[in-house]
Amino acid sequence: MSDNEATTESLYEPPPESNDITEKARFFYPKLLDIQQKGHYTYRRTLASASRHRVTTVDPANGEKREMLMFASNNYLGLSTHPRVVEAAKKAVVDYGYGTGSVALLSGTSDVHRRLEQKIAEFYRCESAVVFPTGYQANVGTIQAMLGAGDVAISDMYAHASLIDGVKLSEGSLKYFQHNDMAHLEQTIKRASRFFKGKLITVDGVFSMDGDIAPLADIQKLAKAYGASVLVDEAHAIGMIGATGRGSAEHFGLDGQVDLTIGTLSKAPSGIGGYLTGKAEIVEYVRHFARSYIFSTSIPVSVAAGLIEVFDIIEHDADLRNRLRSNVDYLLAGFHKLGFHTFGSSTAIIPVLIADDIKLRKVCKALHERGIFATPVTFPAVAKGRSRIRFSVMATHTREELDTLLNAMSELKQTFDLT
Ligand SMILES: Cc1ncc(COP(=O)(O)O)c(C=O)c1O
Repeated sequence: MSDNEATTESLYEPPPESNDITEKARFFYPKLLDIQQKGHYTYRRTLASASRHRVTTVDPANGEKREMLMFASNNYLGLSTHPRVVEAAKKAVVDYGYGTGSVALLSGTSDVHRRLEQKIAEFYRCESAVVFPTGYQANVGTIQAMLGAGDVAISDMYAHASLIDGVKLSEGSLKYFQHNDMAHLEQTIKRASRFFKGKLITVDGVFSMDGDIAPLADIQKLAKAYGASVLVDEAHAIGMIGATGRGSAEHFGLDGQVDLTIGTLSKAPSGIGGYLTGKAEIVEYVRHFARSYIFSTSIPVSVAAGLIEVFDIIEHDADLRNRLRSNVDYLLAGFHKLGFHTFGSSTAIIPVLIADDIKLRKVCKALHERGIFATPVTFPAVAKGRSRIRFSVMATHTREELDTLLNAMSELKQTFDLT
């Protein structure tokens, strides 16, 4: 092993038992420094530009600015710099100022926030919607509000952390089913019916680390058969799947039929915030009982104004959605041709398996040196042995840029003997 190779295998090794609560930090810190000093730390790189398909970064090695190709942004449709979105946000910041100064239930709701909630409800063919400060808070708050003592959330084991954390904040219990395994879901619901009252099945519409799609039609059938409710998190599905970009419910012909539809306003919508949409009675219940909504300040009006444009663009700009689809298909086909494993993804999240964590960091460092911004994902975000580079595709990537990535990965496959 050469000098500049980090020796730390994982930042997330369990610390030794201790009565001192700060011991875990003393255990962790040298590992972090080792990885950073050897130039293998590719988290939290600094951007000095908007998060477009091409970005300016500040190089951690020498502090110099450099252009890079971005393959790690959830701004899938490139909407964060769309002229209509930026114009609406600029106007709102002049008219309404910079922050809202309050939680939404007190004085933090403007007419623009109300229009955004109405727009979201209409977009999903639902009665009503509530906008939270973040997508994380939308999941946590909704589940905490809905799940009472004696109830159970039955979660896909790859569902987003916020769906799990919501259960921890609730009085309910949590059971997992194997990823996208309908036979195991049925078995888990049957068993849960013996021990619990209310049952809530929770899934990502498009899974955030694998990029594959939950079989929502089958999930709905099972839910009906066993008297369960369904919560789908459309965070990575909006703008990506469904004939008009409405996400997994539209993809499966279930518009307006899912009990609880959640999403974030931070991925394809490219702002900040989260939402729950569904029946008015459920939305209003959550609005008044979700602690993450009640006790946290509303999103800036400028962002809400930009998001109103965003929903309009997603709905009507088929060309933008088609460009994303075609870039996804091109990159997936390219990776498959090179023999990479992409975890069954069919969306803008394209994970490439590199199970060995040290090799993974070396590949990410080599990509960085080639001007490609991509991020590694390791335990605890994914299971041990399933580490990966999580590439994100944007509608605005050119074919040439996609080829640059494919060529780099082809070369690194040889260099690092990636299988
Ligand atoms: C599936 C999923 N749900 C929720 C969230 C949280 O959204 P936000 O970043 O808007 O808080 C994320 C973000 O990582 C996600 O991937």
